[in-house]
Amino acid sequence: MTTAAAIGQPLSRVDGRPKVTGAARYSAEIPIPGMTYACLVGSRIASGRVTGIETESALAEEGVVAVLTHRNLPRIAEQPPLIPSLAGTAAPGQTFFPMQDDTVHYAGQHIAIVIADTWERAQHAASLLRVSYEETAPLTTLNQGRGDAYVPEHIFGGWLPGRVERGDVDAGLAQADVRVEATFTYAANNHNPIEPACTTAEWQGDELLLYDSTQGVNATQITVARQLGIPLSKIRVISHFVGGSFGSKAMIHDHVALAAMAAREVGRPVKLSLTREQMFTSVGHREEQEQQIVLGATREGRLTGIRHLKLSPTSHFDDWAEPSIGVSSEIYACPNFQGVYRIFRANTMTPTFMRAPGEASGMFALECAMDELAHELGVEPIELRLRNYTDVSPMTGNPWSSSGLRECYQRGAARFGWEGRDPRPGMRRDGNWLIGTGMASAGYPVAPPANPQRARARFYADGTAVVQAATPDFGTGVATVMTQVAADGLGMAVDRCRFENGDTDLPNIAAAVGSAGAGMISAAVHSAATALRNQLIAKAVADPNGPLYGANPVDVVVQDGVMTAGTASESYVELLRRNFQPDAEASGAWKPPGGDSEYAMMTFGAQFAEVAVDPELGLVRVRRMTGAFAPGRILNPKTARSQLMGGMLWGLGQALLEANHTDPRTGRWANTSLGEYLVAVNADAPDVDVELIEVEDSVVNPLGVKGVGEIGQVGAAAAIANAVWHATGRRIHKMPITIEDLL
Ligand code: MOS
Repeated sequence: MTTAAAIGQPLSRVDGRPKVTGAARYSAEIPIPGMTYACLVGSRIASGRVTGIETESALAEEGVVAVLTHRNLPRIAEQPPLIPSLAGTAAPGQTFFPMQDDTVHYAGQHIAIVIADTWERAQHAASLLRVSYEETAPLTTLNQGRGDAYVPEHIFGGWLPGRVERGDVDAGLAQADVRVEATFTYAANNHNPIEPACTTAEWQGDELLLYDSTQGVNATQITVARQLGIPLSKIRVISHFVGGSFGSKAMIHDHVALAAMAAREVGRPVKLSLTREQMFTSVGHREEQEQQIVLGATREGRLTGIRHLKLSPTSHFDDWAEPSIGVSSEIYACPNFQGVYRIFRANTMTPTFMRAPGEASGMFALECAMDELAHELGVEPIELRLRNYTDVSPMTGNPWSSSGLRECYQRGAARFGWEGRDPRPGMRRDGNWLIGTGMASAGYPVAPPANPQRARARFYADGTAVVQAATPDFGTGVATVMTQVAADGLGMAVDRCRFENGDTDLPNIAAAVGSAGAGMISAAVHSAATALRNQLIAKAVADPNGPLYGANPVDVVVQDGVMTAGTASESYVELLRRNFQPDAEASGAWKPPGGDSEYAMMTFGAQFAEVAVDPELGLVRVRRMTGAFAPGRILNPKTARSQLMGGMLWGLGQALLEANHTDPRTGRWANTSLGEYLVAVNADAPDVDVELIEVEDSVVNPLGVKGVGEIGQVGAAAAIANAVWHATGRRIHKMPITIEDLL
């Protein structure tokens, strides 16, 4: 494969073989002599305090090394504020750190760690702990807490305002010819990556080595350094393989520091892996919520006002809400908008990012309401959206750096076969099944990191290159894509380049969250690779003994590691060998644009779904889905398509399967296994068709990459719910839509 072809090729995953053959070592699979195994114990109650923990029987068991509780665990140095890890700062999942005193704020809160010489012994000993509590009545559900709700000044770790407004929404709604008003309810969602969160901690003197399953090794390093009060230079974090995350490893939850503290206490390495059940109580979740939408429009279908309200529980310590009103405030031209978050304190851990956090739930409400509006007005659903299309962000008036939304509607509709659809519900049948189709718009903000992103490139005189950056690949394919970007920058074939990553000893990269990974990492990697290419070219044209001597550097083209200017050429290898240079190295950085950009940045898409509903059994089957997305430049269509397809299937899961609830009496989660908490599996997966629309964008980052991580989920559930209405004539304002809703 040649240089010019590196970016944009459907390269298969460079980490595919180790992953499928078992050669890949995940963070809980690092063999270290003298290893011990930590088992976390969670609180049975959701509110109150721990009055006693009887530890003698556990300690008497063979192989048990220590039992740590709030009584004997050292205090942390500090718990840093909750700031999204994209900022490049410390990023704890919540501002509360457990086991510092006897209070219990939520069910499953970590109250003890049992450490033994095997995992089985640790688990068994943990089962012997006798914990007594003083319990107070828990409050966890929307119905229990709605009376106490308030509008926070900020949400989302302080990054976004609690209220977003433009124009005069009351006036806008009053002047509308048609109004649609609907309230949507959402079950809580939990992350279920294949690999549960895990950390292996080893102290070497006063230096800490962590193998952590994370979206950002630097985020882990900075967070743990502050929690333990040790210098950054004394912590190294390695994350070579991560088995998925979906946002659960975007923030650094307390088990990471607890593993390090436990290892220090017992003076041996500690491996701490969450159980599947603990994944429901230890790493945040998407909160249960209610959203209300009011749309007003003229007869011609122009929006005059949008009101979008959200109510949800948060923890006792952080004002968190998924940012559900972000995309709805920007995707349509509408002079009057009001979005308000209301939250209430509950016995829950602080919720966290979960794939398309807020965008997926917010666009479900908006796009179901838009479908209703289209029906009320007798306007075709895509046509209604086109009538409200905007070239600028209606919040700031700044033009989109790029859009492609119109092409998404057109090409998505063409692929799906949308044209000629009978708009009337309940008209198509296939035996017992009612058939319907639906569509929705999709949008996801392009969020640049706050800090510069760095990478390093090295070319060896044997003709191979390594490009390095700290970022882990948590399943997105970023290691593959960066190999391509490196090859492109260096002017080399991909199979001569290697991307080395997942280690804080490598140049700093912010946590890959908010679909920002490919854009920010490619910017750094490309910068380093082109810096090295330019260095080698400069050396070649300045070398009196070389064939390129005296050539103008801008005339030199590089392909397959060979520099050519006119008829003269030589390879990087020849240049280095002649100069007795074993290698050459360069660094590169990308400084993201600040907040004062003259452009608004959003990724757009359009979703289409066909469902079959059995009205007697209440069954919904998604028969096919088409998504058309315009994520800027496509670095690798295979990994991009795979990300988008995954997102669409998460949308299917959200629409029809994924649900958790707390028991209002105990405050505990009801579904804490994959048998009870249903995620979409292959048997649920319909024919998923992804259309990639390349749009040029010279603003977002040097390669014009807008990101594919999350937009696949946005709008997917709305397209399905709209198809359910089209099949049955029933509007189900709920996620997930379950059997009883359709009987
Ligand atoms: Mo993503 S939910 O921002 O990790």
